[in-house]
Order: sequence, then structure tokens, then C-alpha cells
Amino acid sequence: MAIWYGGDYNPEQWPEDVWAEDVRLMRQAGVTMATVGVFSWARIQPAEGRYDYGWLDRIIDRLHEGGIAVDLATGTASPPPWAAQKYPRMLTETREGATRWPGGRQHYAATSPDYRRLAAELTRATVERYRDHPAVVLWHLNNELGCHAALDYSDQAADAFRVWLSARYADDIDALNDAWGTWFWSQRYTSFEQILPPRLAPASVNPGGLLDFRRFSSDALLDLARMEKAIIREAGATQPITTNFMGAFPHADYRAWAAELDVISDDNYFDPRDPESFRGAAFSRDLMRSLKPGTPWLLMEQAPNAVNWRPNNAPKAPGQMAALSMQAVGRGADGVLFFQWRQAAAGSEKFHSAMLPHAGTGTRTFREIEKLGAELAELGDLPAPGGEARVAVIFDWENWWAIDQPDHPARFDYAAEVQGWHAAFHRRNIQVDLVGPQGPFDSYDLVVAPSLYLIRDAGPLRAYAESGRTFLATAFTDAVDEYDRLLPGGFTTRLGGALGVAVLEYEGIDEVTWGDQRGSTLREVLRVDDAEVLATFADGEAAFTRRGGAHYLAVLADDAGKAAVVATLAGHAGVEPVRAGLPDRVEACARGDMVTLINHNATAVEVDGGTLPGYGYKITKR
Ligand code: GLA
Repeated sequence: MAIWYGGDYNPEQWPEDVWAEDVRLMRQAGVTMATVGVFSWARIQPAEGRYDYGWLDRIIDRLHEGGIAVDLATGTASPPPWAAQKYPRMLTETREGATRWPGGRQHYAATSPDYRRLAAELTRATVERYRDHPAVVLWHLNNELGCHAALDYSDQAADAFRVWLSARYADDIDALNDAWGTWFWSQRYTSFEQILPPRLAPASVNPGGLLDFRRFSSDALLDLARMEKAIIREAGATQPITTNFMGAFPHADYRAWAAELDVISDDNYFDPRDPESFRGAAFSRDLMRSLKPGTPWLLMEQAPNAVNWRPNNAPKAPGQMAALSMQAVGRGADGVLFFQWRQAAAGSEKFHSAMLPHAGTGTRTFREIEKLGAELAELGDLPAPGGEARVAVIFDWENWWAIDQPDHPARFDYAAEVQGWHAAFHRRNIQVDLVGPQGPFDSYDLVVAPSLYLIRDAGPLRAYAESGRTFLATAFTDAVDEYDRLLPGGFTTRLGGALGVAVLEYEGIDEVTWGDQRGSTLREVLRVDDAEVLATFADGEAAFTRRGGAHYLAVLADDAGKAAVVATLAGHAGVEPVRAGLPDRVEACARGDMVTLINHNATAVEVDGGTLPGYGYKITKR
């Protein structure tokens, strides 16, 4: 299948006489898919019970005549003003109790029965109307679920949280009390009715409660996606279903979500001002590919040039947009789409770049869009992604939620830690999958568990660590169970046997030396039971150990330290880069037997006896 190319298209913002030009220029740019209807609710439904689909019929027909397929949104992302006026309880509240009012977008509570009913009605009406339209090739649930208001502390969220908790604890309040450890600070509950979301309180609130609230909040959003999906299928529509993810988004456990979707899609807005951001982008691409192994994903949104929502919005360098688009394709995407087709003339996003800029076709942005469209059209069928990586790095949302709490030995950013390990492999062009703590790990020769503090079921990981294959766990691993409770017998109670060490103490630090490397924020005091010490802290305590293939690093290492450890592990495991010996900042990614080489430097480099221009790319074979 060819690569989809296109973007969000918001025709309701334009008079109909502009639409003909849109389709003509889309064709000129090589566009094959438009995402329509994301923010069309107010246009489709001017009042409850009244629908106006005539305009949408006309634009979808017009796109179809132009050979452009439609990713049709359910349109539930931004309720019209009449909805919030009529049903004010659909709004969310912050932790401090402030209402998030209408006037922007996403002013709805996932748990609001009113919102859910209205969203269900809109979804049903839209799907019944367009399920058989030949232009519609994909359904797009809502939009960036949870992006602005994922955590809701309102009374209505409190009601839903209690329902969720009584299901989780089988209606047994003492099961909840035990899980949360509520004899602490006199927090014992005698009824689910007493439980609140973790609102602003005089002192830090119960960690088990915080963790369950994060799980509940992800589930509440997922439940909306499920509701819309069920309506689509009940209506008899057979096209695949997606919703646009936001990379390593903190408020949704995308690994759990992935199972509900036919196609994974992602929105990625790397910051062109940050010269290392292409590594973060590679992390997101690898995460998306890993969420549904073997299935190509879609880059649903990226900016054609600058965004408008950072304090100062750097443009992409000439060629950089194409380079990062090819990174997505090289890492498993079968679609390159943008926000948005035509730059808005009014509203908050009028300074956000678009494929067709406000100043028209005589712009660098449009020229680069046209050029990329032509290049993608020539690619033809690409191999299915999956199975390329010999290395897995574990990335887990519930662990993220557990680490992201106050009252720990030291606070650090778990997602940044995982990305730091991914980047250390990326710098060597070693391909990595991002997997959950349950594996499966069979196909890997090297597994890294950065700060896997919460482990629900250690079985698969312990089996891997004991298998003799190469394994690394790093500081703040294996401390608590799924309820954020310490286990009897100290720390590292589940993986310690395989690692041959036990963590005795956690120490918050500013900076520390280990071997000839540095670390900061957190180090541990280890008891070495049955392991070789590969490096010590300056005070002589063990910092980096190995038992068979199982390595433990008792500190949060800086980038250089991570690079050194990765060099050791890659050697130990015998994992090879996709391509060795490339110049600095030249990326190689594998997709089946296809290899994409991308130069992330602004200047040309020599590769394979030829020249790769600044931000140039080249497709070759393994
Ligand atoms: C998100 C949204 C889009 C748009 C872009 C702007 O990705 O889904 O509607 O607001 O951000 O960068």
C-alpha cells in the first residue's frame, strides 16, 4: 500500500468557493487523505436534535471526486456553546476546584452522562450517514483524547471514580483500605461514598489513591473511545478505526488503548529549536510501532513548519520537515499527515503553519510539501514493520504514574529517563522496541528496565533476567507492588535473585561519580550477594554490577554514563547497529529489510561513498 499523505482539513472555516481550490491544490501537492470533521460539531449540529450535513456531503463528495480519501472524525472533540450552556455539568474542574470553562476546546468531562449522550448521538448520526461513502477509509475517534483536561476533579468525576473503585475492589471497602494503606494518617474509609478525587489538600494525599486516580482517568478517556467505537461497529461501518495519540502522553496508557484500535496514529510536534529533538521524535515513532507490532502506524499530525503554541516558535530548517517525515516512514509509518491543510485565517491557530500557508503557494513551506508529496508517491509498497529490533526498553504508564508522585527519596522524570536510554541506543543506530513490563521478551537479546519501580507481576521479567540473556535494571527498580506498597523483605525482592544484589537504601544526591562516569539525583546502597562489581562509587560502594547477563546500575546516570553502559551491554549481547560507522547525527532505521538513512545535520555528509545533503535521506537495503 502506498503512503497516505495529507492533513487535517477544516472546510467549515472557509466559504465553499475556496473548497474547489483546496482540492485542486491538494492534488497538486500529492495529497491522498484528508482528516475531516475534527472540529465540525457546531457546524453539523447547530442545536440539540438539529443536524446539517449538507455541507459535509458536498465536501466529502468533492474530495472523493478529486481522488482524496477521508479520515472522518466523529467530531466529538469540542462541544458547541449550546451544549455547555444547556448542560453545565459537562465541564471539568481542576485539582484546585476551578472550572475549565468553554471558549477554547475540549471543555467536557469524559465521565459526564450529558456529554457522553450528546457525543454518542453525534457519532451515530455521522456514522450512519457516511458508513458506505466510498471516500471514507478510516474513522477518527474524537481528537487527542485528554490533551487539555485529562484529570478531572469535579463532583461528577468523583461519582465515576467511586464506581470505578468499587468495581476494582469488588465492592469491598476494606480491600481498598488495605491496598491504599489507610491506617496511615487516619485515612481509613468506611464507605466508598467518602472517597474523593485527589483534590488540593493540606498535605500530600494517599499515594495508592493518586495511582488509582491516574488509572481511572486513563480508563475514563478510553471508555469514551470504546463508546464511539462500539457505535461505529453497531452502525455497520467496516473501515478501520483510530484515534490520534500524542507520543509518550502522561495521561493515557496507550499500551492498554492500542488493543482497542485497528490502526495506531500519532501526533508529533518536535521543537526545531532543540538540535536533539529528532531523537525524541524517534522515540515516539518506535513507541507507536511497538504498540501494535507488525502493523504500520500513521503519523496523523505534525507541523509543516513552525507551531504557534511555544513561547517562541522556531521554523523547521529547509528539508527538516521531510527528514523527520521519512524518519516516521523508516520507523513504520504508512502515512504522513499534518495539522493542517489550509492555514486558519481566524482563531488561536492562525499563526500555526499549514501545508497551504496563508501567503499561498509561493512559499518555502508549500514547495517542500509538494516535493515530499511527489517523493512519497514514488515509494510504492513498503515492507511491514516489526521484528527488526534485538533490543527492548521497557516503558510503562502505571510505573510512570507511581514514580510521578511526591514523597519519594528523590524526584525525577521517568519518561525522560526512558527516553535517555532510548537516545543512547539511537546515537549508535541500534534499533529498539519499547515494550511493556510483561513482555513478550523472547525475540530480544537485550532488555533494559529503566527505573521500573512498580512491578505488578515480575514473572516474565524475572524469567528473562534469569535466562542468561543480557538485561539491565537501573536505580529505583522493583520497589513496590501494583498498589504502591513496599514488599516484605526489603527492596528488589523479585529481581534481586537474578541480579545478585539487593538494594538496601535510597539516597537523594546532587551529583556522584561512579567509575569514570557521573550520575545525579538518586543513588542506592547495594548489598552484593552474587555479582561481579563492574564499577564503584567514589566511596567504594558498588554502582554497576553483573551476574551472568543480568546487570544492575544503582544510580541515575547522565547521558555519557548511559552511553558507556549501552556500549558495554551491546557488546555483551552482541547486538549490531542498523548501520555502523555513520557520521554523527546520521540516523539509520530499519523497517523489514528496508533501511532509511537520514542526515539530521544542516550540512552534507559522506555516506556509502556518496553525498547525503543537509537533512537529506536515502532508502537502501539491509
Ligand atoms: C494538536 C491538535 C490539532 C492542533 C495541533 C496544533 O495536535 O490535535 O487540532 O491544535 O495540535 O499543533
